Amino acid sequence: MLDGIDVDYDGLIPNNVGLADDARVKKALETWHPGYIDWWKDMGPEGFQDALVYLRTAVSVDPKGWAKFGFVKMPDYKWGVLLAPAVEGRTIPFGKHKGEPVWQEVPGEYRAMLRRLLVIQGDTEPASVEQQRHLGATAPSLYDLRNLFQVNVEEGRHLWAMVYLLQKYFGTQGREEAEELLNRRSGHQDNPRMLGAFNERTPDWLSFFMFTTFTDRDGKMQLAALAQSGFDPLSRTCRFMLTEEAHHMFVGETGVARIVERTCQAMNAAGISDPHDVAAVRALGVIDLPLIQRKINLHYSLTLDLFGNEISTNAANAFNAGIKGRYREDKLAGDHQLLDETYPVLRCVDGQIVEQQVPALSALNMRLRDDFIADAAGGVGRWSKVIEKAGIDFRLTLPHQAHNRHIGEFAGIEVDPAGAVLSAEAWAARRDEFLPTAGDAAFILGLMQPVHAVGAYASWIAPPKMGIDGKPGDFEYVRIEE
Ligand SMILES: [Fe+2]
Ligand SMILES: [Fe+2]
Repeated sequence: MLDGIDVDYDGLIPNNVGLADDARVKKALETWHPGYIDWWKDMGPEGFQDALVYLRTAVSVDPKGWAKFGFVKMPDYKWGVLLAPAVEGRTIPFGKHKGEPVWQEVPGEYRAMLRRLLVIQGDTEPASVEQQRHLGATAPSLYDLRNLFQVNVEEGRHLWAMVYLLQKYFGTQGREEAEELLNRRSGHQDNPRMLGAFNERTPDWLSFFMFTTFTDRDGKMQLAALAQSGFDPLSRTCRFMLTEEAHHMFVGETGVARIVERTCQAMNAAGISDPHDVAAVRALGVIDLPLIQRKINLHYSLTLDLFGNEISTNAANAFNAGIKGRYREDKLAGDHQLLDETYPVLRCVDGQIVEQQVPALSALNMRLRDDFIADAAGGVGRWSKVIEKAGIDFRLTLPHQAHNRHIGEFAGIEVDPAGAVLSAEAWAARRDEFLPTAGDAAFILGLMQPVHAVGAYASWIAPPKMGIDGKPGDFEYVRIEE
């Protein structure tokens, strides 16, 4: 009998959920598997499928040592089903069932709600792989190429995680949803992915690093809220996904930091002190800081849209039901039922941004978004530190949360990054100050040339401080057959 930590590595699907003794789910997953591999070959990383990539694979759920590193061809990656160990005697931490034992089966009354949450989460995982599939062609180094592929295979594993729950607990409907997760396509006209940010393009590496900084961090917040769930298999699934997710944000945050560092180095070496002298900076083959700020504005605002409406009955219902909690619910004080609490929410009243106190239950999306903002601000602060250290007078910041929004309270107004409401004309006249332009995109694309020599890095990005798994920066992280 598996003790919940050891992973059964013998079968087609590594797992710690006792798949060998669960013929029905084993068959469902094995039936789904070829379609997944087809999807990976069609929509996963373009090229490099025969390259040996130095990847980490989850082989345990023991926090002290859950992964092993080694060279694998991506289609041979061991995608598995891994749940964090069960917590003995765990009770539902919030909502109207607070204090009752957690559920090991789906409560009938919450079936539709849970299925919807699993499908939405599941849909984002393959979507990001699709969005990033062309990036291998322009990787700035083998180190970065490997990191891209690590993120990609783990998003693939996250899809497996959601598909397991759907197939195990949702019968025929779950199997149909698992099929649909392989059928939707990021950015497709007729059959797009479910959420807006996951249908945008990720055309270059600055976009990739911004996406992994901000959009993967939305993933972290959603997983953290679901990790609190009274439906224990979901909680355990999400807890293990979070251990992998941290690396994705590391890739993004350090990626941008290395770009910023390189820009500052090049400016200092050339004696350019004005970060707004864009032509001079670009002539050095590095990315100017104002453009990095515009990319922050874009990716941050797209990601804020993922949190949904500030005032939401769906979020209130999921909390009441004990299905989706707040960020770090188990660390928070209070009654965990939010019966009498209020929460401050930014709203749009008569075209102006005002703060209102609303019942805390209805403000859960806003609250999770606030937690996200606090988390994201730390990373942007670290980027600014790099600039400060280089002695250049420029700060990167998060724009106001009403800036460039398309969902929720601020969808109908135009707001500049500082939070001032603009007329439609003023917005149109100044938009290119705030958000990346076609010229910016063309400039960045011009820089995107692949660098495949061992230990070499593109002109626009600094090498990492440290390699992966204690390896040096000049390790051959990807062995490409030329
Ligand atoms: Fe993920
Ligand atoms: Fe991720």
